[in-house]
Amino acid sequence: MPMETANMFNPASKVSKISHCSSMEQYKQMHDKSLKDPEAFWGEITKEFHFEEKVKGKFLDYNFDITKGKIFVRWLEGAKTNICYNCLDRHVLAGKGDQVAFYWEGNDPADAEVVTYGELLKDVCRVANVLKAKGVAKGDRVAIYMPMVKHLVVAMLAVARIGAVHSIVFGGYSADSLADRMMDAQASVLITADAVWRGPKLIALKEIADDALKLCSAKDLKVKMNLVVQHMNKVTAPQPASNGTAANGNVAKKTHFDDKGNFKVNWDPSVDVWWHEALSTVSSECDPVWMDTEDPLFMLYTSGSTGKPKGVQHTIGGYMLYTATTFKYSFDYHQGDVYFCTADIGWITGHSYVTYGPLLNGATSVLFEGVPTYPHTGRFWEIIEKYKVSKFYTAPTAIRALMKFGDEPVKKYDLSSLAVLGSVGEPINPEAWLWYYRVVGDSNVSIVDTFWQTETGGHVITPLPGATPCKPGSACFPFFGVDVALLDEEGREIKGEGEGYLVFCRPWPGMMRTVYGNHERFETTYFKKFPGFYCTGDGARRDSDGYIWVTGRIDDMLNVSGHLLSTAQVESSLVEHPSVAEAAAVARPHSIKGECLYCFVTLTEGNSFEDKLIAELKNKVRSKIGAFASPDFIQLAPGLPKTRSGKIMRRVLRKIAVGDKDFGDISTLADPSIVEKLFELRPKESKK
Ligand code: WTA
Repeated sequence: MPMETANMFNPASKVSKISHCSSMEQYKQMHDKSLKDPEAFWGEITKEFHFEEKVKGKFLDYNFDITKGKIFVRWLEGAKTNICYNCLDRHVLAGKGDQVAFYWEGNDPADAEVVTYGELLKDVCRVANVLKAKGVAKGDRVAIYMPMVKHLVVAMLAVARIGAVHSIVFGGYSADSLADRMMDAQASVLITADAVWRGPKLIALKEIADDALKLCSAKDLKVKMNLVVQHMNKVTAPQPASNGTAANGNVAKKTHFDDKGNFKVNWDPSVDVWWHEALSTVSSECDPVWMDTEDPLFMLYTSGSTGKPKGVQHTIGGYMLYTATTFKYSFDYHQGDVYFCTADIGWITGHSYVTYGPLLNGATSVLFEGVPTYPHTGRFWEIIEKYKVSKFYTAPTAIRALMKFGDEPVKKYDLSSLAVLGSVGEPINPEAWLWYYRVVGDSNVSIVDTFWQTETGGHVITPLPGATPCKPGSACFPFFGVDVALLDEEGREIKGEGEGYLVFCRPWPGMMRTVYGNHERFETTYFKKFPGFYCTGDGARRDSDGYIWVTGRIDDMLNVSGHLLSTAQVESSLVEHPSVAEAAAVARPHSIKGECLYCFVTLTEGNSFEDKLIAELKNKVRSKIGAFASPDFIQLAPGLPKTRSGKIMRRVLRKIAVGDKDFGDISTLADPSIVEKLFELRPKESKK
């Protein structure tokens, strides 16, 4: 082990002592083997799972070089399996039916429920039977728009059990976004819930889903069923707080509840079906459908630089091996651990590390419906104490938001059960890393800064908590099966120390296989820039010790609170407003969100830039994308800095957004004088 210094932290000895991988030597050996002989490495792991039929063709076949033909990746050719069977039946058959799969913890601390593997399996079979009765079959797409409740896990596994494909849309997206995604996937069924409290706020999911379904039917998408979980009658509503923080909840209570306090929903009997009623009429047994390993498991939409989201498609076999293995090694999971990932299942982190990774390992997890600051800022720590959580996984934006409240809300709780703390979503700044380590982890934990993407399916660069000495802010080294390179602009590989484009040289089992319905977009987005490599879109630096530091996106993508957005997506929402002629959105650093949106708008003739318009524009983005995408700043732009060929020079806008006059060379601009004008028009609140 290297000497521990202010910049280098050794794994906690309590983790190393029992770890699946407890030294860098062991990591290197395993990593070498995974690259030299993928079949031997992953073949060994397949033995832990149930395959109805074994591999008959090539274990791995692929083409990463677009100049040689179509890009494709195939693992475990000819094998058949079912991921739901491997998540549930396998454990129940092994006598673990009574083991807790999830401790569900509600938005309000008064609400909690325990769900075992056996109960989960029965409910999954019931929902699978309901879907089958509606004619949902192998390959059909089912959209899911739900809060963080056990029913969400049940729904996705039921879809997988019958060989259908789930498309989960995060419950913070707007009706427009939900409809766009349902249209793209041509989903024939939607599964949702009446509503949910998120902190003090009401999210009326069914109402939003109703609007989305109207948009879909206007475009001729026939949705056969909207299966609705009745959730509101089971949970505690926010109480009016003395400081008025639950105000939003109280307004909601007046408009969304009847006199008896029941939550009101509009009901269309031709599509709407209550979940509990449908489940009461069907059997709790349902045979799994045996699927080809390369059949699709799900699609999950992620932002694309053209503004139209891409349906990232994952397949069954490789994703299963990869999420199971990364979960086991990155968190060093052992029986008896209690694991808590705070991500919403609507994002990839929830897919891979709330549902599939943990269940494939037979783990016990906390499933949390609420937010970190409600009803108090110690909510995460309270939950960790309550369930004696040993492995905890959250995002830098949450860590930074909680750091603001100081150490006291953390120190109130006994967090001595913690052994591994994970981070995901964006580069973690060393200050947040150190606070996480010292205050939350009491300097007696291993931290894992896991780098990955919706597209990669699971962790691709990460420390291993029993083996890797960490440098705060570095995601460290590639996971098993992952072959990393850094390239310069011309595609030349940078060996040793240096900075460049982060790419991968060959497929790992969990990587995406295509963009749903648009294979060409898959090829051009990820494989065209550097033939022979998968291009992440991120930049990275390798230091003299070989550590990888991901520096962030190098395309027109921004990362708000760990959620990727494309500037094009935001701009196209803004220009839909009749007063806006043109818009440009850029990222501005933000102390909690990591980055926030700063937008420039050029108005159409005769419109003036007033507070009312600013509010309307913010609302436009919220309703087109979702509340999380709301811009922090909107400024008037009499013109945009464009090159003579008409390309917006975004780096200049990024400088203006932060009030930096060091513009660099702007001589190629068609009208350089616009830069000074824009600088003067910066909104007052942006100067803080
Ligand atoms: C960023 C989230 C640095 C990165 C799992 C990536 C990170 C994008 C890290 C994917 C990390 C995620 N360090 N950057 N540990 N984790 N990112 O698809 O820019 O929502 O490309 O997947 O988040 O975001 P996505």
